[in-house]
Amino acid sequence: METDHNDPARPPTRVREVFDDWARRGRAEGMEADHAPTARRAFARLGLGPAEWFLDIGCGNGYAVRWAAEAAPEGRAFGIDLAPEMIAHATSRAEDLANATFITGSILEVALPERGFDAVFSMEAFYYIDDLDGALRRVHSVVRPGGRFACALNYYTENPASHTWPTDVGIGMNLLGEAEWRDAFARAGFRDIEQERLTLPASETGDRWRIDAGTLLTVGMR
Ligand SMILES: C[S@@+](CC[C@H](N)C(=O)[O-])C[C@H]1O[C@@H](n2cnc3c(N)ncnc32)[C@H](O)[C@@H]1O
Repeated sequence: METDHNDPARPPTRVREVFDDWARRGRAEGMEADHAPTARRAFARLGLGPAEWFLDIGCGNGYAVRWAAEAAPEGRAFGIDLAPEMIAHATSRAEDLANATFITGSILEVALPERGFDAVFSMEAFYYIDDLDGALRRVHSVVRPGGRFACALNYYTENPASHTWPTDVGIGMNLLGEAEWRDAFARAGFRDIEQERLTLPASETGDRWRIDAGTLLTVGMR
């Protein structure tokens, strides 16, 4: 796997600091607005049933957890995020959803039920994680057999417009290509891996990269 160590550092403390600051400055809502059009399509790929358990890794303001809590009224929806301010914000936005739970911490450390989730989702979070193989193995261990993981990313090799983001944001990011993501999923034990580029029509975006490259979605099953 190719890891770009020339980028700025990405210790968890730095990631937490940046996203706490974003949450305080209202940028979580901006991320939701930016990500929702393709995140909706990635979420739909999970085909969440009404009694299923859902987990969002790096949930930000918790929008996908709210979608899941509503789509699975007899199930449960969890969101985890490294940044406490994001979790505080997500919690306050889901007060009326009794089946939504938010937890502060890293996917590598938070206590989660083994084989506990039917559907795991992540949007724009996995390239911040240093120990990518460890994180994917962890996801595999908390998905039930037959469950699925949908991971959506805008920062990847085949989207050159994204390559300046580590410098722009001030955090190192793991730059992997489509085939490398597929291989990483396979190494973690996922099967029936499918990939798709979720692009937008020009009528819906002014960003050229969203039209040409789009969001890379990788879906794997345990
Ligand atoms: C670019 S934001 C995306 C947030 C949200 N998914 C969205 O689409 O708006 C990435 C989020 O992932 C979180 N994150 C990064 N590394 C993480 C880790 N190891 N475990 C849990 N969350 C993490 C960050 O704190 C941040 O809130």
